[in-house]
Amino acid sequence: MAMASQGPRLLVLGLLLWALRPLGSHAGKLLVVPVGGSHWLSMVGVIQRLQQSGHEIVVVAPEAVLHIKEESFYTLRRYAVPFRKEDMEASFSELGHNVFENDPFLQRMIKIYKKVKKDSALLLSGCSHLVHNKELMASLAESSFDVVLTDPFLPCGAIVAQYLALPAVFFLNALPCGLHYEGTQCPNPVSYVPRSMSSNPDHMTFLQRVKNMLFVLTEKVTCNVVYSPYAQLASEVLQRDVTVQDLLTSASIWLLRTDFVNDFPKPVMPNMVFIGGVNCLHKNLLSKEFEAYVNASGEHGIVVFSLGSMVSEIPEKKAMAIAEGLGKIPQTVLWRYTGTPPSNLAKNTILVKWLPQNDLLGHPKTRAFITHAGSHGIYEGICNGVPMVMMPLFGDQMDNAKRMETRGAGVNLNVLEMTADDLEDALKKVIYDKSYKENIMRLSSLHKDRPIEPLDLAVFWVEFVMRHKGAPHLRPAAHDLTWYQYHSLDVIGFLLAIVLFVAFVAFKCCAYGFRKCFGKKGRGKKAHKSKTH
Ligand SMILES: *[C@@H]1O[C@H](CO)[C@@H](O)[C@H](O)[C@H]1NC(C)=O
Repeated sequence: MAMASQGPRLLVLGLLLWALRPLGSHAGKLLVVPVGGSHWLSMVGVIQRLQQSGHEIVVVAPEAVLHIKEESFYTLRRYAVPFRKEDMEASFSELGHNVFENDPFLQRMIKIYKKVKKDSALLLSGCSHLVHNKELMASLAESSFDVVLTDPFLPCGAIVAQYLALPAVFFLNALPCGLHYEGTQCPNPVSYVPRSMSSNPDHMTFLQRVKNMLFVLTEKVTCNVVYSPYAQLASEVLQRDVTVQDLLTSASIWLLRTDFVNDFPKPVMPNMVFIGGVNCLHKNLLSKEFEAYVNASGEHGIVVFSLGSMVSEIPEKKAMAIAEGLGKIPQTVLWRYTGTPPSNLAKNTILVKWLPQNDLLGHPKTRAFITHAGSHGIYEGICNGVPMVMMPLFGDQMDNAKRMETRGAGVNLNVLEMTADDLEDALKKVIYDKSYKENIMRLSSLHKDRPIEPLDLAVFWVEFVMRHKGAPHLRPAAHDLTWYQYHSLDVIGFLLAIVLFVAFVAFKCCAYGFRKCFGKKGRGKKAHKSKTH
């Protein structure tokens, strides 16, 4: 009894001690080298939380970048680049148009290849201007940071971390071409781990496994275009031979924005930390404007529609088909769209330049979420339990959409072929067929049943790396093996040689004995006898 009554008092004491803890005691300095655009929007919440934990944060970003701006919770250090913000915006609006063009497959591939080549050259030149900026790099070197937090999608932060000899924490969804497997040395058997962008499930048919293998064989070539120039740049700056793999294996911890409710079960490494849903915790009350829309929607509720932060404009014909489809449902649709409003926009559809996506999805009156199936949106949909109509556009979005569809939590539309009726059918299906809501609620409860919030987990591991100056004890020895050692080919060869040698000797002995015993009939026996004497 006495013990039980101690409980609350101890708790209060504990809380008091926690509140009074000297904030500066473990306060450190973080250098953040982010990737702009949607990648930044996923990372900024973690940075804010790290600042609230008492750390000082410096973000370095190019002068021309999307979404990264001055904030009170970090110091922004900009560096000059040979392009303007308008160039970046133009590049993304071009991407927005490209994905809606219904070209033949080969032409489409060539177009994508050219675009990737052009855009990655632009981004690489940005990185080059950072690492060659003597003044900035010298000032960063003087600042004695504890850790570099970076998104390895562009391995520029990895170069900076090596240059400053600092431990790095990687923050990402996944890398293209399975480069995160190379970076972590995580086993990824091609027989049941679907390659990114293959749209394969984990239980693959023979042909799907063939496809998976072909992806492995081709992706090395395609990704070289984007990533090998960074190895050259790094070699130049660090004045030693650096490979892409060297850059990627330099991370102490990989913070991966995935969760197994969306991903498939597969091997993991001790320095891989899963923080899928990290963006869902931040929830604010709706502003008056949005609350009024939601209130006015009546019993039918609302549908939230956004194609992400990067694509906000679509060709007029497509926009009209979408507007027509949206007009056929009784729900109020809030559509994030910055282009010219389609002329056939129905009364129930409200265009907004920006919407508080996670806050709206968290509202009980939200019936469905129309999304491009970016990882950020998918996790907000899962977290809030809102069934989805998905229009994947590029990158990992097809995979995300496929996975939600196979789990019965949404309907996947082909944005190129879809008609107004298809959109209407899909929306009615996810809103009125109870199974979609049930399935997404099941995923949501699995996702949220965890011992620690992903945001706290991310902060813990960043601080862990700061406290211990890296995490070499989590680094598998696989990093230091050659490919034939990794696959034990040298050992297999050695053992095989012994077996062959023994077999050879045994064979020779037998042959010799055989010859002695039966070799030459009659005389053989005599010879044998005479020898034994
Ligand atoms: C919306 O409805 C709620 C509950 O009825 C009410 O408290 C709130 O003031 C309304 N908001 C607006 C902006 O009309």
